[in-house]
Amino acid sequence: MLTDTKSRLLDGLEHIEPDALLQLMVMARDDERQGKIDAGVGVFKTSEGKTPVMRAIKEAEKRLHEEQDSKAYLGMAGDKLFPKLLAPIVFGEELGDNMIGLQTPGGCGALTLAFKLVEAARPQARVFVGTPTWANHQPLIAGADLEIIEYPYYDKADTSLCWDAMVEALKSARSGDVALLHGCCHNPTGANLTVDQWHEVAAILVDRGVVPVIDIAYQGLGVGLEEDAAGLRIVMDACPEVIVAQSCDKNFGVYRDRVGALFVKASDAKTAALTMKHIQQIAREMWSMPPDHGAALVRIVLSDPELTAMWRAELDEMRGRIIDLRRRVAESDPRLAYIGEQEGMFSMLPVTPEQVVKLREEHAIYVANNGRFNVCGMGDDQVDSFTNAVRALMDG
Ligand code: LMR
Repeated sequence: MLTDTKSRLLDGLEHIEPDALLQLMVMARDDERQGKIDAGVGVFKTSEGKTPVMRAIKEAEKRLHEEQDSKAYLGMAGDKLFPKLLAPIVFGEELGDNMIGLQTPGGCGALTLAFKLVEAARPQARVFVGTPTWANHQPLIAGADLEIIEYPYYDKADTSLCWDAMVEALKSARSGDVALLHGCCHNPTGANLTVDQWHEVAAILVDRGVVPVIDIAYQGLGVGLEEDAAGLRIVMDACPEVIVAQSCDKNFGVYRDRVGALFVKASDAKTAALTMKHIQQIAREMWSMPPDHGAALVRIVLSDPELTAMWRAELDEMRGRIIDLRRRVAESDPRLAYIGEQEGMFSMLPVTPEQVVKLREEHAIYVANNGRFNVCGMGDDQVDSFTNAVRALMDG
């Protein structure tokens, strides 16, 4: 009998764990216990635990169905009107001629292009990342083969920013390094820079010649559309080069349609045009062209003042629910008061990974391993069961 001596390609794969957050989403979905609270993955939920299609998006979908007469390719930049209409919301103004914007598959697509662009321009650039950060940030940076320099951003025990450590880290950066910043609604901590701190960060970036990559995925879910973009706009005004990875997945509720944009501010129009060519080539190698449907919906909403007003009103309602839940959780115990000060969809509970398992197994409450919870993951009538379980853990 002949023995097959050839090695198998897939035998070379090493064991890896599935993404913890996405695994949590599946575990929560499969849990049949009454009254479970799924505060894991970051999607907006109503008090009934639903993530509805936003009213303006539903209307845009009807119009798209009526109007769309072709599904032929749009090209590597996707829907060209989409980033133009988004720009005033993100930047408070139209794109200047030293700026480019293009559609991407979600915020992940924008971040992927952002870091691969950095790699193409300066492979030796180091990326400064405050910890904790969104679980997928570091894998995305590593995917572009860039070196990561971590610094402490938030002290979970103290529930405060590690401001001095952040300043010290950014001051140690070399010219040409990159700093990843959360535009608003910091994920996972909910702890954001103040306007004064943004000014200080911008001044350090300019002084050191560091290029900011700003990830803005939750605009409008913190304090308001304008307020949530304040820090980003300070950095845009100050720095000659800025990269912005934007996502509409949350604020337009189009998660599974994967709708994002990459914007780049270059020092002049010629460099911006060259940058666009490079980004499009990178996109071509990754996914060739972004999916159209969700971006077309956002374009339809933002092209029509009535639909735009409808979208803004619903976003206000969503944010109102998050703020109200934050207040109720904060009022339940002085040890949770900080949650009322933080912004956006997430905050971190003062619990250990073992206590996270206890929450899940004994109380059917799902939060991420680091204690991050989605504030709107609980129904209005579940706030007490949530806070009682957390308080019991804190009491030991
Ligand atoms: C989250 O942080 O929960 C979301 O951004 C979903 C994801 O892809 O991780």
